[in-house]
Amino acid sequence: MFDTTLRDGEQSPGASMTLEEKLEVADILDALGVDVIEAGFPIASQGDFESVSEVAKRVKTGSVAGLARASEKDIDRCAEALRDAKRPRIHTFISTSPLHMKYKLQMEPERVLEMVASSVSRARNHVEDVEWSAEDGTRTEFEFLCRAVEIAIRAGATTINIPDTVGYTTPAEYESLLTRLREAVPNADKAIFSVHCHNDLGLAVANSLAGVRAGARQIECTINGIGERAGNAALEEIVMAMRTRPDALPFHTGIETKLLTRASKLVSAVTSFPVQYNKAIVGRNAFAHESGIHQDGMLKNAFTYEIMTPESVGVAKTALVMGKHSGRHAFREKLKELGYELGDNALEDAFKRFKDLADRKKIVYDDDLIALVDDEIVNAHEFIKVDALMVMAGTHGPQSAALTLDIGGDKRTHQATGNGPVDAIFNAIKALAPHEATLELFQVHAVTEGTDAQAEVSVRLSEDGKSVTGRGADPDTLVASARAYVSALNRLMTKRGKTKPEAMQAG
Ligand code: KIV
Ligand code: ZN
Repeated sequence: MFDTTLRDGEQSPGASMTLEEKLEVADILDALGVDVIEAGFPIASQGDFESVSEVAKRVKTGSVAGLARASEKDIDRCAEALRDAKRPRIHTFISTSPLHMKYKLQMEPERVLEMVASSVSRARNHVEDVEWSAEDGTRTEFEFLCRAVEIAIRAGATTINIPDTVGYTTPAEYESLLTRLREAVPNADKAIFSVHCHNDLGLAVANSLAGVRAGARQIECTINGIGERAGNAALEEIVMAMRTRPDALPFHTGIETKLLTRASKLVSAVTSFPVQYNKAIVGRNAFAHESGIHQDGMLKNAFTYEIMTPESVGVAKTALVMGKHSGRHAFREKLKELGYELGDNALEDAFKRFKDLADRKKIVYDDDLIALVDDEIVNAHEFIKVDALMVMAGTHGPQSAALTLDIGGDKRTHQATGNGPVDAIFNAIKALAPHEATLELFQVHAVTEGTDAQAEVSVRLSEDGKSVTGRGADPDTLVASARAYVSALNRLMTKRGKTKPEAMQAG
């Protein structure tokens, strides 16, 4: 299993992660037993370089891959970022389809073949483990693809990846392509073949499994299926399909499936991409049974309507019910049950917030705790924090908000009005931390049922064509809104590579 959540996944508009968040994701991928973790594209930015090199230092079990185009600069930079990896892999690629060669690369096919040979050899001079990808492979002429693959293997590629870059292929077609390719390329037995499928037609998982039936032995995928456009094949779906249907799919992955739910929640929290309720394996309704007939069947025998157990993917049967009388020990145990291991300081902060929540809310559900801890993980160490908020709302405007932000330890207050309380809060934030970003998305959802449910708010900001999403959770929707906006603003600053918005440095 080759996971590219940190590279292709992070390329989804709005899914950017901070370095700390990437390291957390890398840790869980390693614990899951992913064989190769693609940590980023080192030439893309200094931030990408640093995150690949930090992930490389940290990962204990799997290989760590970095992506590089077919240029000397890319490959050398990638090798440098992977210097401390126990098992480094350079993943180099070039487009091979007529469309990409003509319009994107503006290169003659023969020149592309030369670059395949030179890029793979250069990568092989740095590391032994080299993967070569034929970008837009599924729209490449078959004869040309065979030549390119043969050249890449001759130059030293140990893995050959045939991406369905634009999510265009179908299972039967992809299976046939990989079968024919493995038969036609004379040195095909010297490399492992790999699949990398995008989900533009909703076929990414089906296509990946078809590729495996054709002999591919590496699957490139992401947690929750995040990735460019409609995303990549979802790791959890591929793994559970193989585990649940060994009769139809007699293949094995070394993935620790009990960590799938935890990994999904973490990736959702750090990217602020919600998981759709009916998402296979990790959606919140994936194991929920509401209709009377189904519930009756479930009570008689769970297998009537469940083809895999919730426990097998880490959805724990609730053993501990949390309330305002629960102590630190029970809280720590509950978090463990939910898959969180927090350090002492983070645990203490989360415990204080839990007590506050339990005072305000009759029942604290698991989902409440997950929202609270995710908010803590994502927002605790941010440069700008929401310190205090007072809002005047109602039928007679203008509505107003008095907001105090902690900006790097310096507390500042501003009162603003707006067209509604949320607008007033966002205006106050803009006054305290001036910026040019535009608001692209404001989304509220209730974590659980009931009028005392916590609100989870997502805010997406964009600046210079780049977008970031922040998330905040609180029983007060307006506080959650302020937290989400501030969280997005912190991410925007990280993306810009600055520690403070310009206007604040002056003031
Ligand atoms: O989709 C794609 O073609 C890719 C390659 C860079 C492997 O992500
Ligand atoms: Zn891709």
